[in-house]
Amino acid sequence: MSQRTLVLLKPDAVRRGLVGEIIGRIERKAGWTIGALELRTLERATLEQHYAEHVGKPFYEPLVEFMSSGPSVAMVVEGERVIEGLRALAGPTDPIAAAPGSIRGDFGTIVRENLIHASDSVESAEREIKIFFPELG
Ligand code: PPS
Repeated sequence: MSQRTLVLLKPDAVRRGLVGEIIGRIERKAGWTIGALELRTLERATLEQHYAEHVGKPFYEPLVEFMSSGPSVAMVVEGERVIEGLRALAGPTDPIAAAPGSIRGDFGTIVRENLIHASDSVESAEREIKIFFPELG
């Protein structure tokens, strides 16, 4: 089942020079391809749309602040079961709980600075792709 998903390599991943390492892991998955890619510092308005479901949660403001603190890499990744697959490759939200071998498990320690976002469902993927790559909507 071919799908597409929205991936963000967060400002900590860019600052730490982990973009090549993370993209390499994604590209090495059989049949997955990068359909769109852009380096940009995300505007608050874009992040408010992206994280709309989390407004009012205690982590919301620090998350938006962090996510706008420097450039991120936004990507659309396409391929077989890529939504579930990228969530597995990323590991759970808390990097300390993430298994070694996952991106967060190998490179993260702080919950906020957890390196990568990947859409959690077909509906989220379509909504998020429209926010970051309206031309692909
Ligand atoms: S929830 O409440 O279960 O839906 O939250 P979760 O899916 O785990 O996380 C939603 C996004 O918020 C980020 N997050 C945090 N950021 C900063 N600080 C804290 N404590 C924190 N907890 C969760 C988390 O990384 C998710 O962002 P994305 O970009 O989707 O990874």
